[in-house]
Amino acid sequence: MSDSSSNAMWGGRFAAGPDAIMEAINASIGFDKRLAAQDIAGSRAHAAMLAAQGILRDSDAEAIREGLLTVLSEIESGSFQFSTALEDIHMNVESRLKEIVGEPAGRLHTARSRNDQVATDFRLWVRDQIDAAIGGVEALIRALLVQAEAGADWVMPGFTHLQTAQPVTWGHHMMAYVEMFSRDLSRFKDARVRMNESPLGAAALAGTSFPINRHMTAEALGFDRPMGNSLDAVSARDFALEFLGAASICAMHLSRFAEELVIWSSAQFRFVTLSDRFSTGSSIMPQKKNPDAAELIRAKIGRIFGANVALMMVMKGLPLAYSKDMQEDKEQVFDAADNLMLALAAMEGMVKDMSANRPQLAAAAGSGFSTATDLADWLVRVLDMPFRDAHHVTGSLVALAESKNCDLPDLTLEDMKSVHDAITDEVFGVLGVDNSVASRMSYGGTAPEQVRAQVARWKEVLG
Ligand code: ARG
Repeated sequence: MSDSSSNAMWGGRFAAGPDAIMEAINASIGFDKRLAAQDIAGSRAHAAMLAAQGILRDSDAEAIREGLLTVLSEIESGSFQFSTALEDIHMNVESRLKEIVGEPAGRLHTARSRNDQVATDFRLWVRDQIDAAIGGVEALIRALLVQAEAGADWVMPGFTHLQTAQPVTWGHHMMAYVEMFSRDLSRFKDARVRMNESPLGAAALAGTSFPINRHMTAEALGFDRPMGNSLDAVSARDFALEFLGAASICAMHLSRFAEELVIWSSAQFRFVTLSDRFSTGSSIMPQKKNPDAAELIRAKIGRIFGANVALMMVMKGLPLAYSKDMQEDKEQVFDAADNLMLALAAMEGMVKDMSANRPQLAAAAGSGFSTATDLADWLVRVLDMPFRDAHHVTGSLVALAESKNCDLPDLTLEDMKSVHDAITDEVFGVLGVDNSVASRMSYGGTAPEQVRAQVARWKEVLG
């Protein structure tokens, strides 16, 4: 098998071994060794099926089973010698199996090809990542729920265009992310349902003349059923793209939140204090506490988007069925998955540890004429003004407050009357931020009561 004068695996057809450059461009073992556990699980299922179908002698199947377990333990313990000449994980495992068990190893590849093998391995790997992503997003949602429940009635400014818009509650803001991440959760779950079919037994592309049982291998590997078309089975990578798509959207949400944490933790905002555990210092400026985890989340997200685009580009021009281009699917997905899991865990850690600066949030909530809409609504409700007129009157009052360098509640009744004489001192009741948020009782609104209802709903959903 390690004969270098001809090819190690297909010496029958080839008189000469590959050029060194060929070997370098062709080999995938440097990265697809991450599929080792999946590859061995797939081979074990395949061998057991071949034996059950009478295609493989029981004694050979047993030798293969034992041998594969030995290979797995060698890989897990780090003693396995990976060889670039053997191209990929599939041939590295088979070659070592041959060294361990001899002749029966050569029977394992009956009714199978590396094409259905890699498709199976990769599906199993991506499925594990989807499960990990589901766990990571759920943990993050739980951390957000804790923040939301604690701060259901803590007021803070709500923004549009990053300009103060209307007061909202801390809990409401946290729950916005709960909604976003819950959709990510459902996207991952949905992708998992669709991808959970087995390519194994599609062989190279056309199926096989051996009387295999694809239902048996599908079941052994936890798939719902075998894929229904062997050409599609070896050439489909949309399962990986769906993972990357869901990962990209989730990453985009993480990045937006990370951006808010960067802004909120700045000396100008001081809305939150991030824990020391998720911040770093500066080597020169002693006062600095930098939100590096948030910044790195925001930055790493680009790699996930990049992987999505890169795999789309790899796939878009490929005729059916397998093409070697598809070997380029793995590194992108590995990198995206690694960074997604890291970003999710870092975000969860930051959310768990961060503390909202309530006085600062409340002060900010009341500045910037944040209750101007409440004032306009009061003019409509109490003075029966058309909203457009109320908007105009309120605008004049804001301009007046601005000229006096004060906020709306600081205007006197006389000031108010100078703009519209029907205004009474009852208006001051709606200019406070607590009243403002409490009044927004529409379903999904920012009133603490509504926020608590949503927290309860999500706790119920998550169980
Ligand atoms: N290392 C290959 C890959 O990752 C395995 C499949 C090779 N198939 C083939 N027909 N050369 O795609």
